[in-house]
Amino acid sequence: MVQPPQLRIPGPTPVPERVQRAMAAPMINHRGPEFRALLPELEAGLRWAFQTENDMLIFPASGTGGLESAVANVVSPGERVLAVTMGAFGDRFADLAEAFGADVARLTLPWGEAADPEDLDALLRHEPDIPTVLVTHNETSTGVTNPLRSLAEVVKRHNRLLVVDGVSSIGSIDLPVDRWGVDVAITASQKGWMLPPGVTMLSVSKAAWQRQASARSPRFYFDWDRAKKMQAKGMTFTTPAVSILFGLREALLTGALGLRLLASSPDVASPTVTAVYFPDALIGEKSEAVFKTWRELGLIVGEGQGKLSGKIFRIGHLGAVYEPDVVATVEALERGLEAQGHLVTRGAALTAARHALSSEPSLVA
Ligand SMILES: Cc1ncc(COP(=O)(O)O)c(C=O)c1O
Repeated sequence: MVQPPQLRIPGPTPVPERVQRAMAAPMINHRGPEFRALLPELEAGLRWAFQTENDMLIFPASGTGGLESAVANVVSPGERVLAVTMGAFGDRFADLAEAFGADVARLTLPWGEAADPEDLDALLRHEPDIPTVLVTHNETSTGVTNPLRSLAEVVKRHNRLLVVDGVSSIGSIDLPVDRWGVDVAITASQKGWMLPPGVTMLSVSKAAWQRQASARSPRFYFDWDRAKKMQAKGMTFTTPAVSILFGLREALLTGALGLRLLASSPDVASPTVTAVYFPDALIGEKSEAVFKTWRELGLIVGEGQGKLSGKIFRIGHLGAVYEPDVVATVEALERGLEAQGHLVTRGAALTAARHALSSEPSLVA
């Protein structure tokens, strides 16, 4: 039998079967009640993934469309913009701003290198009249990730608007939008989201909205203001990519076991121990039945200690841990929880684990 090829390009990524099935669902009225129910669910899921309270906008477009929407909404012709570029996509962002008439200053790195926050600091100190900074988080053309947290600190210290191309990072590399103060963060469906190309998603901060109100670039298809008003009514301005959005709902289930970590944020989550709350219905005595089922399935995990007894379980992943160990553990976790009545989407956690094994560990819980 001919095996399907291993699609190992940096997007589009392979689409998990579960997501493919979700996308095969019959079409719905995109101005009807089903879509009105779907949209807020997606917005909430995206806020979770972007780690933000900001508004989320969704457009039928590739990532470049999302970048263009940012320039069209926050940059004015003739205005100075700083583009931090370390590769082809950084150059594209800068070119795009130029195409909209911006006066673009470039902080250009040799390909293969990342931006130095001190250089950015020096540049912004000498250029008080640059209201907007464009940064690529993960430069897909060179395989280099910028130290975005430090760069964001600098941009915020200088009180400029920070627009981040997170096309190949968000959902795969940790980017806590609110904590780092990213004003506009943009991604696209064909990357870490495990979806086909065709949808761009972005978060917009209050400061970005204020800028949007006075920015003078022409915009129509990507007018954020209209997009926000339409989304508030449970629809989108133009016809949405309905099937991909069905897939997005399924892909967002990568919080697949519906469980919460004890660690207050991915930043402080231990790389050697993962402590997880039981779902409410399984807290206390019921948790013992879950541990028993897991043991019967060959999985032994740590119990909660002290005041966390009966409330959490702890998975150790120190020492020799290989991919098959992770997969076997997640599968047993899923089966044990399901056997004790916790509804899980069969295989969802496993898909998420497999996905996370090829990226950062932020989406597996
Ligand atoms: C970092 C980055 N920015 C922008 C883009 C452009 O996205 P698209 O091809 O979806 O328009 C890509 C695509 O690979 C990318 O990796």
